[in-house]
Amino acid sequence: MSLMSFGTEIKPFDVNEIRKEFPILNRTVNNHPLVYLDNAASSQKPEFVLNKIDFYYRHLNANVHRGVHQLSQEATDAFEQARQQIAKFIGAKSDAEVIFTRGTTESINLVAYTFGMSQLKEGDEIILSALEHHSNIVPWQMICALKGAHIKVIPVFDDGSLDINWLAKAINDKTKLVAVAHVSNVLGTINPVQQIIQIAHQHGVPVLLDGAQATPHMVIDVSALDVDFYVFSSHKMYGPTGIGILYGKSSWLNILPPWQGGGEMIDQVKWSGTSYNKIPFKYEAGTPDIAGAIGLASACEYISSFDRGAVIQYEQLLLNTCTQAMGTLPGVIPVGQSPEKASVYSFNIRGLHPYDVGSILDQQGIAVRTGHHCTQPLMDRFQIPGTVRASFAMYNTVEEIEQLVKATHKAIKILS
Ligand SMILES: Cc1ncc(COP(=O)(O)O)c(C=O)c1O
Repeated sequence: MSLMSFGTEIKPFDVNEIRKEFPILNRTVNNHPLVYLDNAASSQKPEFVLNKIDFYYRHLNANVHRGVHQLSQEATDAFEQARQQIAKFIGAKSDAEVIFTRGTTESINLVAYTFGMSQLKEGDEIILSALEHHSNIVPWQMICALKGAHIKVIPVFDDGSLDINWLAKAINDKTKLVAVAHVSNVLGTINPVQQIIQIAHQHGVPVLLDGAQATPHMVIDVSALDVDFYVFSSHKMYGPTGIGILYGKSSWLNILPPWQGGGEMIDQVKWSGTSYNKIPFKYEAGTPDIAGAIGLASACEYISSFDRGAVIQYEQLLLNTCTQAMGTLPGVIPVGQSPEKASVYSFNIRGLHPYDVGSILDQQGIAVRTGHHCTQPLMDRFQIPGTVRASFAMYNTVEEIEQLVKATHKAIKILS
């Protein structure tokens, strides 16, 4: 019994063929064909991923790493093979550097706690950026409050790009970690992460990158980046919810303490004390999301089955088409115009509330996100209550962008 695989065949990029693989794209919303432009919040899932999860539960389901029986061994093999596939997808040197978590948020909490408890002391500093998601702010605030450390923030320019010169000046021997988004979920800015890592490493400071918005749209190579921690969520990259990854250099994961305690993460448990398992198991207490891991690995396989360069080019075409066409509408104010952007177009309409615009788009079957997008400090920086955000995946089309533009025009007329 084995799980079907794409092998090494690279398929040409054909959006019409791709759309057939996502069953949900056939449904209607408010009597209109669904136009799904909320991919930065969560993407849709192809048959390939759905089938792999289904196959696991129908044919392989058992707990992992525990049983001598055949089924448990097959489940363990599938789970560990998933880890290997994910390690390869992100260019990790070893599978042991790939930890399964519930997602980006849990991965950052894991690092904040283990790094914070073992490496931070009073007066130390962590550097974040002004465009972070709450997931990459609040865990650091919590651990800094506990340890008496402080947060410094890389400012963002009006166009949505970061002031990297500020970082070069602000980093000093009190700085213990730099943690920034690879791609902003609101502005779409692709941050100059290589430069950030270089500056930090020149000062001996490790870097965590929040890759939640990067993994669906870019080729990630954690070894080439030489990043210390890289975190992301499966559900934003065509995989299931409830699972994600913490990549960490083994040199860090080996020395940081464990996080949650329980089964799986132990070596020996005695009333006199407990010794811990080696990585990655040291950080995986309890029964993992086995089907989720297999689902995420199949999402990696699905993405890798396409010519990635062609997908990136296509998604840039969608973004450019949207940016140009929306710019022609009366009162539209784009939010985030950095020269380097990925798959996110945020905007406001002068005098209108984002929520009202989003509701009218929904009535026309168009799913966009409205609000602060879990980035309240960024909204404060731009002095706006929120934005309307259209975010693209490889299954979106230029026709869908045209529908968004038409529907937004209608919203402007109705609400003005
Ligand atoms: C940049 C960024 N970081 C972190 C997160 C949190 O991801 P999750 O809710 O999957 O943990 C998100 C989700 O929108 C995000 O866009």
